[in-house]
Amino acid sequence: MRGFVTSYGPSNVKKLIWDREFAGGKWNFIDNTAGDCVYPYLEKYANQGSILDLGCGPGNTANELSESKYRTYLGVDISAEALAKAKQRTEQTGRAEKNRFTTGDFLSYEPDEPFDVILFRESMYHVPLGKIKPVLSHYSQYLKDGGVFIVRMYLAMNGKNKFRPTKMVQIIEKNFDVLEKGRHGGPGDATVIVFRPQGRRA
Ligand SMILES: C[S@@+](CC[C@H](N)C(=O)[O-])C[C@H]1O[C@@H](n2cnc3c(N)ncnc32)[C@H](O)[C@@H]1O
Repeated sequence: MRGFVTSYGPSNVKKLIWDREFAGGKWNFIDNTAGDCVYPYLEKYANQGSILDLGCGPGNTANELSESKYRTYLGVDISAEALAKAKQRTEQTGRAEKNRFTTGDFLSYEPDEPFDVILFRESMYHVPLGKIKPVLSHYSQYLKDGGVFIVRMYLAMNGKNKFRPTKMVQIIEKNFDVLEKGRHGGPGDATVIVFRPQGRRA
């Protein structure tokens, strides 16, 4: 039920669920994710440029990513609770000049500038399957020339493939040009996929 509502529910209900979970400490375990497999990809493709992080959570990516590898970072999240943590952490790490955060539902969010990297880190699960292609097409307009999408997801649980994430990767592989796909193992099969709209120049 929760999984259905966090993908298909109205924005105000999704916000309530996520705010309650962040306030209750359910997601405290993602506060520290230093050394995650996504960082080398982000650092490579950000190329000292700009990052849009959709479903950014409590500021782990914005503050664990090597500071010298990007110029600006914008985190979007539906949860004001998560963003309060993200902003506080950014003050503590002295990155307020680089990191900005805004509340929004990534199914309808309209950026006001293009980015070098658009990231869905552990957040694409909350895009309905039928919207994966339209949502990525929408954000394609906000990729700079040479820009890429980076998606990090767990494709399995206890060694068994999960249907929706596996299907999401298939949709990406069919409709976009994949530059890299890294499988980082473990029972969850942590996977990072880097891609751009078909036919876009490098
Ligand atoms: C599992 S957490 C991942 C957080 C962070 N990206 C990470 O990898 O540690 C998923 C995040 O996506 C956010 N989220 C879920 N649905 C969303 C939506 N429709 N729009 C914006 N953010 C959303 C949640 O509030 C939560 O912060």
